[in-house]
Amino acid sequence: MKSTIVTESPEETISLGERIATSLRKGDVVSLIGELGSGKTTLIQGICKGLGVKGYVTSPTFVLVNIYQGRVPVYHLDLFRLRGLQELEGIGYEDYLYGEGIALIEWGEKMRELLPPTYIEIQLKRLAPDRREVIIKGLTSKDRFPPLIKN
Ligand SMILES: Nc1ncnc2c1ncn2[C@@H]1O[C@H](COP(=O)(O)OP(=O)(O)OP(=O)(O)O)[C@@H](O)[C@H]1O
Ligand SMILES: [Mg+2]
Repeated sequence: MKSTIVTESPEETISLGERIATSLRKGDVVSLIGELGSGKTTLIQGICKGLGVKGYVTSPTFVLVNIYQGRVPVYHLDLFRLRGLQELEGIGYEDYLYGEGIALIEWGEKMRELLPPTYIEIQLKRLAPDRREVIIKGLTSKDRFPPLIKN
């Protein structure tokens, strides 16, 4: 099952993230895939807002993971600078994927072989300066993301 949504502004992407957050549960892993500037961090800002995270959400740069506290712990990974899977072993990535919170992973394809058997994949594509296509895929998305159709 797959949902495709087109957003017309960063604000719309943030509110989409807030709607996605209502369907997320403890233990979920979300892999975000899309070129530079496609809106991964922006969508995560919305998801975090929806999960009740207060304060500024920005990509981890010198570390691989930022941890926020919302209604559950939120693990924000950004693998752009990842050089090898051993770096993930080094930070104990299992704690984030199989922990008590929700993992949101930018460039998640870089750890594809370490992802759990079931996870949610979100692909973002830049269609125009302010338009983004957001494709949400997950085995259970039919049950869990019914209200995402725009408006
Ligand atoms: N509809 C839209 N949705 C999301 N971002 C948008 C949209 N329209 C314009 N933008 C702009 O595109 C940029 C998206 O940047 P963002 O950091 O979210 O992307 P990213 O995929 O995380 O990039 P990176 O790969 O560098 O981490 C922002 O400057 C944002 O304002
Ligand atoms: Mg980013």
